[in-house]
Amino acid sequence: MNNTLKKTLSVVLAVMMLFGTFAFGVSADEVKRIACTMVEDGASGRGFSWYTYEDGASDLQIMKTEDFDGDFTGAMNYSGSTAKFREQYFHKVYVNTLEAGTSYTYRVGDKAKNLWGDTCTFTTDDGDSSFSFIVSADIQASSDENFREASATLKGAVATAPDAGFIALLGDYVNDNTNDEWDWFFSNFAFMNNHYTHVPIAGNHDGNITNKFNTNVFKHTFAVDESDNQSLEGVYYSFDYGNAHIAVLNTNDMYPMTQAQRNWLINDMKTSDATWKFIFMHRALYSAGKHFNKPDTIMMRNILLPLIDELDIDMVYAGHDHMYLRTTQVYGDATVENVEYVTETVNGEEITFAVKPEGTVYILPSTAGTKRYGVNTDASNPATRVAAKLFSTRDDDLGGCFTVTEIDGGKLTYKAYLVDDETKEIKLVDTYGIVKDEGGKAEESDLDQSLMATIVNYPANFAKAIIDMLKSYFQMLFDLIGI
Ligand SMILES: [Fe+2]
Repeated sequence: MNNTLKKTLSVVLAVMMLFGTFAFGVSADEVKRIACTMVEDGASGRGFSWYTYEDGASDLQIMKTEDFDGDFTGAMNYSGSTAKFREQYFHKVYVNTLEAGTSYTYRVGDKAKNLWGDTCTFTTDDGDSSFSFIVSADIQASSDENFREASATLKGAVATAPDAGFIALLGDYVNDNTNDEWDWFFSNFAFMNNHYTHVPIAGNHDGNITNKFNTNVFKHTFAVDESDNQSLEGVYYSFDYGNAHIAVLNTNDMYPMTQAQRNWLINDMKTSDATWKFIFMHRALYSAGKHFNKPDTIMMRNILLPLIDELDIDMVYAGHDHMYLRTTQVYGDATVENVEYVTETVNGEEITFAVKPEGTVYILPSTAGTKRYGVNTDASNPATRVAAKLFSTRDDDLGGCFTVTEIDGGKLTYKAYLVDDETKEIKLVDTYGIVKDEGGKAEESDLDQSLMATIVNYPANFAKAIIDMLKSYFQMLFDLIGI
């Protein structure tokens, strides 16, 4: 073939490819950052969210997995809302008519454009009291490679608990909150987001006014709540799953925690008769990482500890400080004495169960990512006083951490694992259990949850939080120097 003919063929081929692209209607747009999130009732509701580069409709096609044979003919169709955010388009759809205990297959996109994302799945809560959930924290990555490394932790988690009812990430998904970082999170964690229900928790890196004035990001990333509990910096919400009630707090408003959120938490927990009550949040109130004596940690402890004591919360899971902590049963800022323990062998593992204990266990499951902190074991640190298990996943380069909590009626079995950085071997590093009678009791509670409650109480709350924080700080200092 001579050169002239080669050049002519090349031009013809290029023109064919160009027109071919248009002819087949393939656009530059794509459906990305897909998430299926928990809303209010694990058995009947879900939120769906995603992004596109171009404006368009927010459509969901969903059908029972048992009826899905490769296409969405006969699917139920739902539509939601589209909002422009940071030069891209955020889409969300809510559904609250799902059947309990059912596996669904779905896709999201724009029906008119025939633009669809990946085919995804999830399963609704069957409502019985036997289920498990995964909790991990603080991916906080800032490169594609870091997100990929952190994804190994959650791959280990879903391999360990493939039937988990949901996966909660305790905030700080990203570091600098750029569009690139969120794209990397969703592309590296598609194995999880596309096939599990996600329980998102806002961290201080996920759209906080104190972090480069990034606001409104969380509500434009996940479809978690249609109520008024959204702020510029996150959202608080709750849901039922099996015989548990779970509240997700927004600890980005901890200066001090707004009266509206305090009142909401009291109303929400007191009026639930669930057997198990859990709180998921980002900032921890017991912590032994580098934030252990920061004002926000101290304020959180002063404000939340009495509320958690009053509300009979079984376990509180928090992130932010990238080290591992499990406390004893804690009440009144001290280890509960005289707890009865029994030891059982479960699947070859000896696990110690607290029997109908008082108090709350506080968990800080280190980090799924690679940014890990050392551990402060000063006697002055209240976390040291109440710690049952405390270690750094940095100092020995132990790996990314995840936890699995299994509920079977009145029995809770908690396990923490590390995924080795090099070998990806999954290692059990901590266990704990609680047994109690099934069935909780609800009471009436109707405190003011409006913004007005916060406005009215703000000056007094703020002054008290600062004074209490200073008192606590100096007490820690005096303890340290032995006065
Ligand atoms: Fe954080």
